Amino acid sequence: MTFFRGRRLRRTAALRDLVRETRLTRLDLIQPYFVVESNPEAETPIASMPGQYQLGLNRLIAHMEPAVSAGLAAVILFGIPQAKDERASGAYAPDGIVQEATRRIKERWPELIVVADTCLCEYTSHGHCGIVLPNGEVANDPTLELLARTAVSQAKAGADIIAPSDMMDGRVAAIRTALDQEGFAHIPVLSYAVKYASAFYGPFREAAESAPKFGDRKTYQMDPANGREALREALADEAEGADMLMVKPALPYLDVLRTLREVTDLPLAAYQVSGEYSQIKAAGKLGWMDETAVALESLTAIKRAGADLILTYFAADLIQQGLIP
Ligand code: PBG
Repeated sequence: MTFFRGRRLRRTAALRDLVRETRLTRLDLIQPYFVVESNPEAETPIASMPGQYQLGLNRLIAHMEPAVSAGLAAVILFGIPQAKDERASGAYAPDGIVQEATRRIKERWPELIVVADTCLCEYTSHGHCGIVLPNGEVANDPTLELLARTAVSQAKAGADIIAPSDMMDGRVAAIRTALDQEGFAHIPVLSYAVKYASAFYGPFREAAESAPKFGDRKTYQMDPANGREALREALADEAEGADMLMVKPALPYLDVLRTLREVTDLPLAAYQVSGEYSQIKAAGKLGWMDETAVALESLTAIKRAGADLILTYFAADLIQQGLIP
């Protein structure tokens, strides 16, 4: 009798290594950091995200030091400003917290890639990602100007990649135009093109102090039930000039990631979000799962589904532990 002997290539570690289809490398990973303006020495643990901190400017650099020495090559920054207002002034202030953090990082490590998350929600008093009208609606077009201003100020501070995460319509075009006009035609845009209104962002909103004070984000972020709509969003952003596209969250949306992989040739990013991180951490703490093994398996699955780059809170730690070559 003949049958398929799949086990032949699984017999030894060396054989499995030889035929492995997907390999994670440190160069695939982007570590998010939360930078707080109020105190340069702040190092406040985020209760809902064990191992992550709100860091003041001085502590940020100290925290990054061992990770960068171990090979971390890219970071994305989220700012927690001292003051918030209706127009998110802190997002585009020349001396805003993300702008300052970017300058510090580029001074210390000129080669390190700094991605700027371009959004207003951490900087608005109401916590929405755009201008809120008196009737409570989030206004699309007036928000575009503020996003464009934010992107330009981040590029001026030295950001290597601009990553709009607000989900307003037309923001890639608005940002691209503004960057080009201000002399930043060389700076790429990584669009959070397919961003779902996800409950998996829960821990992030505590970390970034960015939960909306009223309502939710369902009028701008996507309905988790929709897959075809993801293609419309992605192709629209590509047409507007996005250089890379992102799917977010990652693991619950691998089908979307795979579909996108088949319809676009742009590099694709996936964001393993706070809730994905925290549930693995929590189960690890309880002794219910092997945290490190589950983290590596999840990241491998995300890459296998089609991600070229992965934003993950595990990046620095796994690289520092020498678990990702
Ligand atoms: C800002 C933003 C969010 C995340 C990244 N950028 C939060 C949100 O949309 O509420 C989520 C990241 C995470 O959960 O790890 N708009």
